[in-house]
Amino acid sequence: MQTIYLIGFMGAGKTTIGHLLAEYLQTTFIDLDDYIEKTYQMRIPEIFNNYGEKTFRDYETKALQNVKNVHIVATGGGVVERQENIKSMKKGIIIYLETSFEEIKHRLRHDSNRPLWNISDRSRRKLFFERIEKYKKIAHIRINTTNKPKQQVVQEIISYV
Ligand code: S3P
Repeated sequence: MQTIYLIGFMGAGKTTIGHLLAEYLQTTFIDLDDYIEKTYQMRIPEIFNNYGEKTFRDYETKALQNVKNVHIVATGGGVVERQENIKSMKKGIIIYLETSFEEIKHRLRHDSNRPLWNISDRSRRKLFFERIEKYKKIAHIRINTTNKPKQQVVQEIISYV
């Protein structure tokens, strides 16, 4: 079975959908951010604060390379920032969970655990629109999740894979 990589912006639902999908398909799942936190025994904001974004990206790349035998992988929103990550995900199926900026803003309105969301509204917008071009470019499959029940998103993914 090919590995399924769920990609998309912060708050797109990659972790939640990944869990449900793995449950439905009775298969293995890993959340890359979770894996990083467990491996380095630090929360993501701590990694950013103590060592900076570059170190986090190094951890992320290493994590992606280490989880090859897992069927479903929920990635972090910035996984598309490195070409080598894209290259390694292209060996599997890349599914982009597409969500509108307004919906993301709503879902993350109380969030303080994402260092790259703790920025000005203008910078958020810029990051979002830059990122979605990257997601669209590499995705094998695009699933719109805005205003859609989770179960429906899962069913749509299953109908494709
Ligand atoms: C990031 C997204 C986060 C996490 C880190 C950086 C990003 O993951 O990897 O805070 O650069 O977009 P989620 O997409 O799961 O929030």
